[in-house]
Amino acid sequence: MYLKIGHRGAPGYEPENTIKSFEKAISMGVDMIELDVHLCKSGEVIIIHDKKVNRTTNGKGFVKKKSLDKLKILDAGKGEKIPTLQEVLDFVNKRVKVNIELKGSGTTEAVLKIVEKNITKNKWKYSQFIISSFDSKKIKKLSKLNKDLQLGVLSKKGHKFLFRKAKEIKAYSIHLHLKQANKKIIKKIQQEGFKVFLYTIKTEKDAKKAKSLLPNGIICDSPNLI
Ligand code: G3P
Ligand code: CA
Repeated sequence: MYLKIGHRGAPGYEPENTIKSFEKAISMGVDMIELDVHLCKSGEVIIIHDKKVNRTTNGKGFVKKKSLDKLKILDAGKGEKIPTLQEVLDFVNKRVKVNIELKGSGTTEAVLKIVEKNITKNKWKYSQFIISSFDSKKIKKLSKLNKDLQLGVLSKKGHKFLFRKAKEIKAYSIHLHLKQANKKIIKKIQQEGFKVFLYTIKTEKDAKKAKSLLPNGIICDSPNLI
């Protein structure tokens, strides 16, 4: 069986990367939520996909140029506010696992601090987190800072350097775009000892294809499809 993972929550139904979206994903029975992080001007780790707030809120401008106070004024859809990582972890409260995707600069150390704090103070476990990124430098840094983390290598196209990267950081998982996935490569990755997660499943057709490839996890916009 594969893990059901709500991509940015359940954006097929609720505004992406908001508490409402994570709530919807959990109500649909996901095993894990995926979310994207950036650092804002006042130093908090916040949940948003883009560098700018333009697409997902009623505001304009770069996240890193806005303090948390200013970001909290914005509407992230249906009246939702942009959450901080800590707010999401408190909301989730260990009901499902969390895949934190590092997007913005400065997120590496800041996320590590939050994850470690929640493990020591709030009874989260390392096995309840996967930290992934397209940016190999970020993941490499994390692998040196804390050996207990479950790290995911995100890959967009091709399979060149995939194994080298994953072995170098002792990755837990490799996350492939559905378009670059086939049974052969998935089997090879699994035989090398890594989990395979497929992203981003949006339609019934995608879901059917993803399931047929026998991955360890499927990252989906509408978790009811998986
Ligand atoms: O983690 C998989 C997926 O979320 C990566 O792409 O652009 O949706 O963050 P993106
Ligand atoms: Ca993401």
